[in-house]
Amino acid sequence: MGKIKTIYSLSFTSACPSNGSAEADLQHPFERGMTWKNTFRRRITISFGDSCKELSFASLNTQMLIWLVHVYFDCWDAMKQNKSAHNGIPPDRWASRGRRAILFIKQYGITGLIERVRTYGIVNSFFYLKMHMRYQISIELGKRWDRKHNVNTRGQIDLDQVDVVGANKTEGHPIVSISPRTFSFLARHFPKTCENYTFIDIGSGKGRSLLMAQKYGFEKIIGVEFAEAVCLIAKDNIQRFRHGKGRVSSCHVVHLDATQYEYPYENLVLYFNNPFSPNVWEKIIPIIEASLQEKPRKIILIMAGSVPDKVEAVIEMMGRSPYFVIKATGIAPYYCDTYLPFYYAVYQTP
Ligand SMILES: C[S@@+](CC[C@H](N)C(=O)[O-])C[C@H]1O[C@@H](n2cnc3c(N)ncnc32)[C@H](O)[C@@H]1O
Repeated sequence: MGKIKTIYSLSFTSACPSNGSAEADLQHPFERGMTWKNTFRRRITISFGDSCKELSFASLNTQMLIWLVHVYFDCWDAMKQNKSAHNGIPPDRWASRGRRAILFIKQYGITGLIERVRTYGIVNSFFYLKMHMRYQISIELGKRWDRKHNVNTRGQIDLDQVDVVGANKTEGHPIVSISPRTFSFLARHFPKTCENYTFIDIGSGKGRSLLMAQKYGFEKIIGVEFAEAVCLIAKDNIQRFRHGKGRVSSCHVVHLDATQYEYPYENLVLYFNNPFSPNVWEKIIPIIEASLQEKPRKIILIMAGSVPDKVEAVIEMMGRSPYFVIKATGIAPYYCDTYLPFYYAVYQTP
């Protein structure tokens, strides 16, 4: 293999065996017993001093590439964190998927990756990879939707990254927007005359559902969200939303825990996209029932979730309510812009 002379001095750590002879120093690190794992853990120090060493082309290129990838991800991450901290926007978990993969390789090396595949088996590893590819596709499609409508509704914010009101933080689900296609699928259950109804999204997150609901012509659109940072993002999105048919004037977000919200005495479409665990539903259902008892009116309740057991638990609770009859239930299609298929149920007052 051809050798090049370099003005850089690349130092490998002492774990890289060398007997100190000039001949050994000229050998490729792998020939000196360095493993892949070691290579990935090495830190390269570059000095423009007078010391010169000869290294093989392959070694130099590989090390430089790894170093560049590290620098790129470190800078990218730092920029992102700075920007987020500056804007007060909590970190987006999905944005760090690539970085976390690199960190894994940095920490465990290729051998660590092979070890994982061995532990979980080829088939499981394949499904894991496939799942992550689906995630990645849905993330890209979410970004595209955002760009088209001039908003920021993508990604995932975990609840431990935000302050919330009320006592239900541990029962809440992360802030993730509905996939546009799944929303359109669920919208088939909206009433024919939406202008006589108010649409309320309980756990409205960054407000994608509030924005999507605008094209159906509801009289009013309201979001209820307990995380303040996310309420601010949703309000900003409502201002910036680009929609061909214009804006609905009355669309706003209320910063409250869902159990503290008082439902308006109007015909309602209540929409719950995976907001919280069945423990909170136990409190919510009696509140809606009390409101119905006070002022009987038309209510359509649509609930969806990605965990079948939790959806079933809510279906069972709703089944005991004398105020609602079930209209439809099933699994929404696994659209390419959704990270998981959604289970749903639709109820209405008789
Ligand atoms: C899966 S996201 C749904 C986002 C939005 N509804 C959509 O369809 O795009 C669930 C949201 O419910 C909110 N949430 C969870 N528990 C809540 C509670 N007790 N009161 C109000 N909001 C809650 C979370 O902060 C999160 O934004």
